[in-house]
Amino acid sequence: MTKIAVAKGDGIGPEIMAAVIEIFKEANVPLEYDYVDMGKWVFDEGYSNGMTGEAKKTIEHLGILFKGPMETPKGKGVKSINVTARKTWNTYANIRTFQTLNGVETVFSKAGIPIDITVVRENIEDTYGGVEHMLTHDVALSRRFITRPGSLQVIRYAFELAKKKNARRITCGHKANIMKLTDGLFLECFYEVAKEYPELNADDVIVDDLCMKLVTRPDTFDMVVLTNLQGDIVSDLCAGLVGGLGFAPSSNVGDHISIFEAVHGTAPDIAGKNIANPTALLLSGIAMLRHLGLLEKAAQIENSLLYTLEQGIHTGDFGDKSVPAVNTTEFANAIVSNLGKKPQRNAKPELQNVASSCSVYNIDTNPMMESKEGEQEKLVGVDMFIESTEQPAAIAEKCERHAGVKFDLVNISNRGTQVWPTGSVYTNLVNQYNVRFESIGHYALNQQDVIGLYVSLSGDFKICSLELLNEWDGKRAYSLAQGQ
Ligand code: NAI
Repeated sequence: MTKIAVAKGDGIGPEIMAAVIEIFKEANVPLEYDYVDMGKWVFDEGYSNGMTGEAKKTIEHLGILFKGPMETPKGKGVKSINVTARKTWNTYANIRTFQTLNGVETVFSKAGIPIDITVVRENIEDTYGGVEHMLTHDVALSRRFITRPGSLQVIRYAFELAKKKNARRITCGHKANIMKLTDGLFLECFYEVAKEYPELNADDVIVDDLCMKLVTRPDTFDMVVLTNLQGDIVSDLCAGLVGGLGFAPSSNVGDHISIFEAVHGTAPDIAGKNIANPTALLLSGIAMLRHLGLLEKAAQIENSLLYTLEQGIHTGDFGDKSVPAVNTTEFANAIVSNLGKKPQRNAKPELQNVASSCSVYNIDTNPMMESKEGEQEKLVGVDMFIESTEQPAAIAEKCERHAGVKFDLVNISNRGTQVWPTGSVYTNLVNQYNVRFESIGHYALNQQDVIGLYVSLSGDFKICSLELLNEWDGKRAYSLAQGQ
C-alpha cells in the first residue's frame, strides 16, 4: 500500500475530498491516507506559510500531496499557500488535461469535434520568480528567468508523457520571434530534446497563433508545452474549450514531491451545502493514480465517471437543467454504483498497473547547476539603465564625455526602442533610458573597467541598474536594441 498526504482544503474542499476518497475506497484503490493540516485555519493559528511543521514533514516524507482548494487570507501580507507549495517543492511541471466530457455540453461537443489536449506548463521560472523593481517612479521592471536546465527538465517530462500517452503530436508554444533569448532558449531546448524522441511528431507554433488555432481546430492538438506565463493563459483557454474550470484537473509534478489538485478555488458561496461538483478533484485524483502507476484503477474510475456523466447525472453547476441535479454525495454514490461500467464514447483503455516510478530522497547535490565548459567568454560592454528627463541628444553628449578611452557609446534606447543615434520624433519617451556602451574594437574588458565607467557616469545620472554585455565563443549573449 502506498501512503499519500491528503489536505482537505477550505470551503468546499472537505466535501469534495470526502466524495473522492469514498470513490477511491469503494474502488479498492491500494492507497493509505495521511491527513495533514494546511489551509486558512492554519494561517489563522499563526503559521505564516499556511501549514504546520508536522504537515511539511509528512508531505516531504511521503512525496505525494492530494489537496483540496485553499484560501489565502487577504491583505495580511501572506503568500498564497498554493504557489508557495509548488515553488518550495520544485514541482517544475504543471500538467492539465482537457478532454471532451460526455454530458458536458460545449460548442465543440455539439459540433462533434472531440478534444483531448494536455498542456504542460513550466511551473517555477519566467516572470513568476516575482523579481521586480521600480527603476524610476514611472518605470517598473520584471525579470524573466528562463534557464536551460529548467527548460530541459519540463520539456523532457512533456516528451515522456507524450510517449506514454501515445500522443500524435507534441507542440511547443512560444514567442521566440520577439523574445529571441528567453523564448529562443526554451525553443532550442525543445528541439534538443525532440531529437531523443524521433518517434514523436514535434513542432512549434507562436503562442498567439496557437491560441487562434486552439479555438478553431482544438482537435488537431494533442500535447502542448509552454513557459510559465504563456502556459498559464493557454491552459485556462483550453479549460474554456471543454466546459470551464469546474472540469479542469491539475498535477504539479516534481522529481521528489508532486501535488494533485483541482484548478478551481474554495467556492465560498456554496461551501457547506453539499452541492459542489467533485469532478475536477476526481480527475486530479485519477491523474495521481496514473502518476503512481495505478493505471488499471485510474481507467476503471474514469470510465465510471464518464459513464455517469453520459447518463445525464449532474450536480447543479452543469448539465441538462430539465433533469434534476444531485448533490455531491449522490454524485459520488452514482459513480461508485457504476464502477465496472464503460461509457459508449471515449472509454479509457484499462492498461495494467505498472511499478511506481516515484522515489523519495533528499537533494544533496545541485543537479541543475550546469554550465557549458570550454566556452570562451568575453566582456565587451555594458548596458546602463539611467533615470533622466532629458532628450536623447543631450544624454548622448554627456555619456560620450564619460566613455573615455575604452568605451564607445553605441546606442540609447527607451522602452527597448532606439532613440539615438537615430530615432523618430514620434517615439514617446519615459524617464528611463538604456545607454549601451561597447568596448572600442570589441576588446575584452574587465569588471573594473565597467565600475570605472559607472563611477564616472554616476556624476551626471542616477543609474538604476546595469547589465554586462558578454560574448560567448564570439556569439552575442544579449539582444540588440530595436533598430540597432
Ligand atoms: P472559485 O473557483 O472558488 O469560484 C468561482 C465560481 O465557480 C463560484 O461561483 C463557485 O461557486 C464556482 N465553483 C468553483 N468550484 C466549483 C465546484 N467544484 N462545483 C460547483 N461550483 C464551483 O474562485 P474564487 O471565488 O475566485 O476563489 C475563492 C477562493 O479560492 C479564494 O480564496 C482563492 O484564493 C481560492 N483559490 C484557491 C485555489 C487553489 O487552492 N488551487 C485556486 C483558485 C482560487
